Amino acid sequence: DKADADYLISLVRAIPGFPKEGILFRDIMPVLADARGLSILMDALVSNLPIANDEFDAIAGLEARGFLFGPALAERLGKGFIAVRKAGKLPPPTVSESYALEYGEATVEVERDAIRDGERVLIVDDLIATGGSASAARDLVISCGGVVAGFSFIMELSGLDGVKALGDHPTSSLLAMP
Ligand code: HPA
Repeated sequence: DKADADYLISLVRAIPGFPKEGILFRDIMPVLADARGLSILMDALVSNLPIANDEFDAIAGLEARGFLFGPALAERLGKGFIAVRKAGKLPPPTVSESYALEYGEATVEVERDAIRDGERVLIVDDLIATGGSASAARDLVISCGGVVAGFSFIMELSGLDGVKALGDHPTSSLLAMP
């Protein structure tokens, strides 16, 4: 309800100038640290899924903050959890996907056998900005023979068009932030 939504929003901390000048950083850690906030968050993620529970088979979470609630969400929904990690952390065999950052490039990986052929995967992360890392996760799922069922985010930074960068997939975000 409205009181819960307001309470959730009140816990998201905005830090100007972090990690770089000109950035207003949105921090979800205070939400996780608060018992009521965490409970509201998990309930809201479950009730705002972009697709029905029987339309996907597994949840993939992005390192690092997608690891903080992705497995809990997967457990609530009766799914398994797939870790999309930064390069070099997972043992072989892995599949990799690189994507552009503001300066340079980053690479994400999954274990090759983590995704079965035709498995329908919901991709989760705390926040979508430009959509670079979420798009890389999408490409990884496809490279592994999986199907991207949709995306679920806690926060969406409006004005960056990150959701558009993902392509035509069902997407939900709980909070839109300027
Ligand atoms: N918060 C957390 N992660 C981010 C942000 C932010 O505001 N912008 C881009 N990645």
